[in-house]
Amino acid sequence: MKIIFDEEKKVFLIHTNSTTYGIAIVDGKYVAHMYYGKYLDERDLRYLLREDEAPLVPSVNLREKGAFLDCAAFEYPETGMGDYRESAFCVRSQDGHRASELVYTGYEIMEGKPALEGLPSVWGKKEECATLKIFCLDRLLGIKATLLYSVMEDSDAVIRSVFVENQGKESVYLEKVLSACLDMDDRNFQVLGLFGSWARERHIQRMPLGYGRQNIASLKGESSHQEHPFMALVTPGTTQETGEVYGMNFVYSGNFIAQAEKSQFDSVRMTMGIHPEGFTWKLEPGEHFTAPEVVMVYSDQGLGKMTRTYHDLYRQHLIRSPYLHKKRPILINNWEATYFDFDEKKLLEIAKEASELGIEMLVMDDGWFGKRNLDDSSLGDWFVNEEKIKGGLNNLVENVKKLGMKFGIWVEPEMISPESELYRKHPDWAIQIPGRETTQSRAQYVLDFSRQEVVDGVYEMIAEVLRSADISYVKWDMNRQLATMGSSALPADRQGELYHRYVLGVYRMQERLIRDFPDILLENCSGGGARFDPGMLYYSPQIWCSDDTDAIERLAIQEGTALVYPVSAMGAHVSVCPNHSVGRVTPFETRGDVALLGTFGYELDITKLTEEEKTLVKVQVEKYHKYNDLIREGDYYRLASAAENRYYDSWMIVEKDKSKALLFYVQVLSRANVKSRFLRLAGLDPDKRYQVDGKEYSGRTLMQAGLRITPEMGDFRSRTIEISMCQ
Ligand code: GLA
Repeated sequence: MKIIFDEEKKVFLIHTNSTTYGIAIVDGKYVAHMYYGKYLDERDLRYLLREDEAPLVPSVNLREKGAFLDCAAFEYPETGMGDYRESAFCVRSQDGHRASELVYTGYEIMEGKPALEGLPSVWGKKEECATLKIFCLDRLLGIKATLLYSVMEDSDAVIRSVFVENQGKESVYLEKVLSACLDMDDRNFQVLGLFGSWARERHIQRMPLGYGRQNIASLKGESSHQEHPFMALVTPGTTQETGEVYGMNFVYSGNFIAQAEKSQFDSVRMTMGIHPEGFTWKLEPGEHFTAPEVVMVYSDQGLGKMTRTYHDLYRQHLIRSPYLHKKRPILINNWEATYFDFDEKKLLEIAKEASELGIEMLVMDDGWFGKRNLDDSSLGDWFVNEEKIKGGLNNLVENVKKLGMKFGIWVEPEMISPESELYRKHPDWAIQIPGRETTQSRAQYVLDFSRQEVVDGVYEMIAEVLRSADISYVKWDMNRQLATMGSSALPADRQGELYHRYVLGVYRMQERLIRDFPDILLENCSGGGARFDPGMLYYSPQIWCSDDTDAIERLAIQEGTALVYPVSAMGAHVSVCPNHSVGRVTPFETRGDVALLGTFGYELDITKLTEEEKTLVKVQVEKYHKYNDLIREGDYYRLASAAENRYYDSWMIVEKDKSKALLFYVQVLSRANVKSRFLRLAGLDPDKRYQVDGKEYSGRTLMQAGLRITPEMGDFRSRTIEISMCQ
């Protein structure tokens, strides 16, 4: 990790262990992009700027602004001056103009990495990180923009954000403040993103990049089930081990846009940040605005290296929870067991049976509060429904504890049901536009979390519940997207701030929750996995991955999720068959193995399992205890994808010192008349010998020639194979 400024050449070089990012100052004022890729120790990279080439041919005028701006590579392009590609920054002045020119004024290279006010961000000790700040100024408006680039000692990521200050005399309106922009020559890139729907989150999709703009975005007020704040540009044919990858992941949980644009000159501009649609931010003189950060990862060794860079960075420098490196209690959640139809007796029956099988925590899901017996009421009424939970919450929790189990609870703090005491008392707390019908979804409205008194009011209610009993875990859910955006607390010219202020309110409340209740294990959730993003990981070490608990559907969901996020963060449970989402019947063992690649737990009526299934629960519990340290802390390697090959899925977790590994293999569909398959393993030490199923092989053999996997009769069969280094 090193950041260098060459005074004479006016060049910044940001080095990580195996990458280099190069910036140059052109004509003393433009902040130009020079290089991003594999490590280079060459200092003189200015030729990459093509300063001696005419922008348009034939032309002799090298610096005619119009042509120059539209073809050079920039770090932070602005709207309105003549760069017609997507800009990263747009400001509207008092007199209605939309143009700015952020001219370089200086820099600072510092130890450490500044935290971002009110926002989640990657963190590290002072000596572990370095930050480059590039200062720019629009002289006419007095708008100062600081471009921040941070690197860490032990990571190949480059982390970017932007800080904007109004040093002028008049207020301005920020209409677009993206967080990162990367200009490169096209290498026939493909765009790789994560797409889906409710119960089908984060399926990997790769598309060719043609001329024009291609974006991945959310305008739903949250990261969303459908599109995901991650985008990678990959060279054609990129595999797990080969090819070049440029990844961008947004540490944010609201509206976003990630875009790749191929220009007339075959350059590519990759951008990421808060979606400008529905966004304006009034900046009065003296005020500032911080754009959330983007984590950029370059890999010259395929997707696998990118994945492990994100996993390690997030485990070491993003997730803060004291549970991060701990085996989480095996939980049983009553949602798929009972839905809303439960009482304290039913919960205790589940807890009793579960405790006998080694399950360690009961989680009471939706339906315990107000008058909630269906999803049509009571959000906001955060007090126990004593008709359902007779004897009150504390009594229930103490009875669960007597069984040797911990207790967890579900809440949905950001919501309000029109049918609730809270709404009758505070109708203005809902996000709404006066005179317009407020859009309902799942029979609920969204609370205006831009208002501190709303956040405080809800927080107090929930904190009281958490103080009233010994609660070890909270599942924070968010079950609808935002619409009819209006806040009764914001003036007309600040309504465009609502989406972002809402997210900041959510972050404030999560921060307060983990500060006041440091021992509570927090799991985020949003109608399944609509808010599985790095922003939320800053507050909770785990996030519910998807409402689809079918083991086979989960393969693609977990493959896409684990492309970026550590498997220790993926909420995954064993549920009953036929599966409630797809009606599929899969072996109990397969459901257990797939859920092992995550936090692991159960989500079924355990009192209704057969004796054989109960015995299998015990086996799974044992397996979890045996392997969770390895799975949680190890390196993840994707070996095969059923989403690509149709028939089998496989991944491996390898201990950091390569002494041990666990191989997962799922035969998704059985085929007639096939031979065994040689599955090439990964991540082992080629020069060491390993024991597998009583046989010895060198790591090199296992990785080059492969391990023989014999076919089985039947669909959806899984197996796990332990691999250990010979002494
Ligand atoms: C969401 C969650 C589920 C469950 C329900 C309860 O869909 O993802 O796990 O908690 O809400 O309403």
